[in-house]
This record gives sequence, C-alpha cells and structure tokens, in this order.
Amino acid sequence: MTLAIIGGTGLNQIQGLEIIGTQAVKTPFGNPSADYVFGKLHGKKLVFLSRHGNPHSIAPHNINYRANLWGLKELGVTRIIAVAAVGGISKKMSPAHLAIPDQIIDYSYGRAHTFFAEAGEAVQHIDFTYPYSQPLRAGLINAAASLNLSISPIATYGCTQGPRLETAAEIQRMERDGCDLVGMTGMPEAALARELNLSYATIAVVANWAAGKAEGEITMSEIERHLSKGMANAIELLQAFISAK
Ligand code: HPA
Repeated sequence: MTLAIIGGTGLNQIQGLEIIGTQAVKTPFGNPSADYVFGKLHGKKLVFLSRHGNPHSIAPHNINYRANLWGLKELGVTRIIAVAAVGGISKKMSPAHLAIPDQIIDYSYGRAHTFFAEAGEAVQHIDFTYPYSQPLRAGLINAAASLNLSISPIATYGCTQGPRLETAAEIQRMERDGCDLVGMTGMPEAALARELNLSYATIAVVANWAAGKAEGEITMSEIERHLSKGMANAIELLQAFISAK
C-alpha cells in the first residue's frame, strides 16, 4: 500500500471504498487530523485521511499538517493525492469544475510549515520549483481523458489563511499575481510532502466563484451544492486513476 488520499471539505469518505481497518498514529509533531483509514478501491489498497477531522471540525489554519504527512510517511505511503475545495478566480474555473494545479502561490502565515525547524539542525532548502509531482499529475490528467471529463490540466493555486473568505480586492490581487484558484489548505501540505520526499498532486474542486467574481454573497449552501457535484466527479477521477495503475 503506497497510495494515500487526503480528503478535504466535501470528501470525508470515498464512495465504494471497502474499509479494511483504521489506525491512530502518534507522531513527534502531535496527532494527525483523524485516524488513518485503510481500504480497497477497485482492488487496490490505499490509505485515506480526512484533513479536517471526523466530524469536519479543524479549521485550515489549525490543521496539524506536519503530523498528517509524517503519519503517512510512517505508514509507508509514497504517493499522495490531495482533494481540495477551492474558489474559482479565472474564467474556466466555474463552480463544480476540476483542475489539476501545477503551481502554487502561498499567502498563508503562521503555520508550522517545515520539518527542518529544530534549533541546531542543519538548515535544508528543498527544491520547490515545480511543487506537484509531474508523474502523478500526468496520471490524473490521463484518467480524466479516459472518462471524457473536461478538467483544467494547468492552474495556479493560491493558498490563503482563512477561515474567512477573501475580499474582492484580495482576489483581484491574486488574479494579477496569476492565481487561477484560491484555497486554504494547499500549503504547507505540498511543501511538507516534498520535504519527506513524497510524491504529491492535488485535485482541486471548484466550490464557488471567488469573492467579487459573481454577483451577491458567497453562501455555504451554494458551496455545498456545487461541491457535491464536483466531488462526485473527483471520486470518478480517482477511481479511473486507480484502476489505470
Ligand atoms: N476561498 C478560499 N478557499 C475556498 C473558497 C474560496 O472562495 N472556496 C472553497 N475554498
């Protein structure tokens, strides 16, 4: 078992996952968001972790990203597919659309964002030019093609601090910066995976137009409605990815 799925808002469990067992893991960085769930999907073993806990109660800035990733490494995982709800900034990123981002801009702050922080330890600088695993991204993009599912194979993910949504001006700035998507959990998750030498890619599921990109307020009921449609596609995509391996 080498593949893990980290599920975000709207993906607390995977339909069709045959559950084999669960395991709590303690790490030097504290406790992960939830017990790890071992299961089989299309005959392939995988580990599932609910990023916001069970029930969904850990806000993006309070997630123990280090424990979550450390625990996966300890379980023998080598590849991670993260599923993340996002707001859509650029034109193609309409609600319920899926994207496989290739770049990140990090606007988050104050999060425990490295394993290399111990005093007296030699500082290490990981290469993060391409933050996501290209082979994993290619696998997901091919799986989408096999389903005739229209996705965006390139997108820049901007990570904000949350838990509040952004202002319209913040989204305009992010758009000028080149962000296509905005989410709250992509970092430090991706960088910590790289520090542990774990392959990592994200399926971003658009839940809403980002602030100022559509008329009116962004409501939770709107987010939930779009997410349930988008997550159904994300699960199909995961199933196609897994059965292609
Ligand atoms: N902004 C940040 N994170 C999000 C959003 C958003 O609009 N929608 C879902 N996650």
